[in-house]
Amino acid sequence: MAKTLTEMDLRDKRVLVRVDFNVPLDADRAVTSDARIRAAAPTIEAILAAGGRPVLMSHMGRPKGQVIEELRLKPAGQRLGEVIEAPVRYSDTCVGDAAIDASKALEAGEVLMVENLRFHAEETAGEDHFAAQLAQLGDVYVNDAFGTAHRAHASVAGVPKYLPSCVGLLMARELAAFERVLTVPDRPLLAILGGAKVSDKLPLISNLLDQVDQILIGGAMAYTFQKQAGLNIGTSMCEDDLIGAAAEARAAADNKGVELLLPTDHICAAEFQADAVASTHGPEIPDGLMALDIGPETVQRYCQAIAGAKTLIWNGPMGVFEMPSFRAGTQAIAQAVADSDAWTLVGGGDSVAAVELLGITDRMGHVSTGGGASLELLEGKVLPGIAALES
Ligand code: 3PG
Ligand code: MG
Repeated sequence: MAKTLTEMDLRDKRVLVRVDFNVPLDADRAVTSDARIRAAAPTIEAILAAGGRPVLMSHMGRPKGQVIEELRLKPAGQRLGEVIEAPVRYSDTCVGDAAIDASKALEAGEVLMVENLRFHAEETAGEDHFAAQLAQLGDVYVNDAFGTAHRAHASVAGVPKYLPSCVGLLMARELAAFERVLTVPDRPLLAILGGAKVSDKLPLISNLLDQVDQILIGGAMAYTFQKQAGLNIGTSMCEDDLIGAAAEARAAADNKGVELLLPTDHICAAEFQADAVASTHGPEIPDGLMALDIGPETVQRYCQAIAGAKTLIWNGPMGVFEMPSFRAGTQAIAQAVADSDAWTLVGGGDSVAAVELLGITDRMGHVSTGGGASLELLEGKVLPGIAALES
C-alpha cells in the first residue's frame, strides 16, 4: 500500500506535489473550470497546516517539449492562490538552479508553482535523469494527480524513486471511490455507459461484466449494438468492424447473468446539428435519420432500473447533450441518478461535464477528476502512478 499524507513528516520540508492542473483556459488565459484546482486544494492546505512548503508541478495540454506561451501554468497558480487564500509564487521553469533556488526560498505559509513539465520532452518520455532533476525541488514527494496517474511520465513514475513518497488527499479519495464500486459494492450495482465509441468502452464493458448486475447503454455506442441485433440504424454512428465484438460482449453478459439494456427508442435528426429538426422513432431508425439521444420510453426503462440500484457507476452521456435538442435523455438520467438513494461514482470527462452543466455535482457520491485514468481503473488496469508509490 502507498503511504498517506498523515504518515509523513512534513515540518519544514519542501513537499514536492504532482498535481493535475491541466485545466481549460479561455482566449484570455483565464481558467474556465477550476474543478481540478479546488479538488487539490485540501492537500496543499494540509501540507501548509503541517508546516510543510508545497512545491507544485503539473502539465498543461500537450506542448510536446516546446515552450508554448498559452500553456504556461501561471494562471492556474493564480487561481489556486485565490482558492486557498495563500501566496502562490511562480517559477517559469521546472528544473535547474532557478527552480531549486525558488523552492529553497519559500517561507512558511507560501506555495511555489513551477512551470509546465511538458515543456521538456523528457517528462512524457519518462526519462530518469529528468525525474532526478525534478526530485531536487523537494525533500518529500506527494502524488495528488489522479487525472495523470495512468501516464508513466517522469514526474509521476520517476520521482518517487528518489524521494520518500505518498499519495495526496485527492488521490486517496479517488482510489477509495473506485474501490468502493469495484470491490465490495452495495448491490444491485449498475453501470450507465454512454459516449460516442464502442471501441473506447469494450475493455471497460468486459471488465465490468465481472462486477456489475446491470449495464445500461446509451450514446452513439448503442448503435453498433443495435446494428448487431439486426435493427435498422439509419445513418447513426456505427463501428462496423466492432459488430463481432459487440456480439461477443452480449454473449458474455448472458453467460455471466448481467442484464445489458439497450435503447428501444431514439431522438433522431437528419443532420448532426444543434438546430436540426428532431423526431422520435423506435426501435428501428428510418433511413436518412441518425439517432442523437435516447427516447422517452428508454428514459423511463432506464430510470426504473436506476431507482432499484444501490450503487451506480456513470461513464458517458446518453446523447449529444451539448446541443439542447438532444440533451433530454442525459438530463433525465442525471436527474434519476441524483434522486436515487444509490451511491454514485461519476467518471470520465464527458459525464463529469454533463453533471456540472446540469448543476448536480453535489448530489453525486464522487465525481472523478480523471478521464483516461478513471477509464483505466474501471478496465481493471494498474495505474503506473500508483504502482510507483507502492514499490
Ligand atoms: C487529462 O486531462 O486527461 C490528464 O490531465 C492527462 O492529460 P493527457 O491525456 O494529455 O496525458
Ligand atoms: Mg487525457
